[in-house]
Amino acid sequence: MKRKQMAALFVIMGFALHATGCGKHMNPEPSPPNRYHTQSIDHRSYRAYDDNTPAQTMFPSKYPASIGVIVNKTIYLPQNYKPNDLVYPNVPFLFEEKIEKRQLRAEAAQALEKLFAAARKDGLYLSGVSGYRSYDTQKWLFESYMKRDGYIEAMKYSALPGTSEHQTGLSIDVSGEDGKCAVSSCFEYTKEAQWIGRHSAEFGFIIRYPKGKEHITGYKYEPWHIRYIGPSKISLEMVRRGVSLEEYYNVIRVQ
Ligand code: DAL
Ligand code: ZN
Repeated sequence: MKRKQMAALFVIMGFALHATGCGKHMNPEPSPPNRYHTQSIDHRSYRAYDDNTPAQTMFPSKYPASIGVIVNKTIYLPQNYKPNDLVYPNVPFLFEEKIEKRQLRAEAAQALEKLFAAARKDGLYLSGVSGYRSYDTQKWLFESYMKRDGYIEAMKYSALPGTSEHQTGLSIDVSGEDGKCAVSSCFEYTKEAQWIGRHSAEFGFIIRYPKGKEHITGYKYEPWHIRYIGPSKISLEMVRRGVSLEEYYNVIRVQ
């Protein structure tokens, strides 16, 4: 092959690689942290707390077992935190096994039983999908979502280990008894989702990742993920004010 022909061939190959996205700059997504770790919180980077909030007990670095704890993309749980009062709530789940994700903290479990009983009275049969998750389970889950959808997409619906409310044992994903649309966006349009949206606050639960608050929570709307926050006085007040947990505690990050 003559020199000129060779040069033309290289130019064509270069274009082809660029067009198909092959090459070392193919994936512009940032890599996740190599090692997940407990992040210590600089409380000064948050604004003052709501006047009604018991001083700092919502911060998991000091009070991971507080019922009012807040965990989000920047407020981490200690890696080794595991609640010491996990129980199996007496409600149906989509599976039969007594495994990790069937558990919740005792107070949240009791409230969940009341919530499910009230739904039953209204003719709706709810099921648990996923409750408590350890740090290691969350790590495995996040990494499998990341392999499937990439880091940026995974971050919109799955928490990095140490930042999932499921590790608190106070949150649970719920569905109807048939599991239709479980943990999927179409759950929003089911009668179970509508019932939960209307009544969960009466039992001390909040929809933790509400519609319209994605820019604050950092997550897509999750009508199935409910979080026990304590006596219904708090959850009802949050509904009345139409605020997310971040707004209620006034912990929108300053920097
Ligand atoms: N889906 C929620 C954000 C979690 O992974 O904890
Ligand atoms: Zn969830």
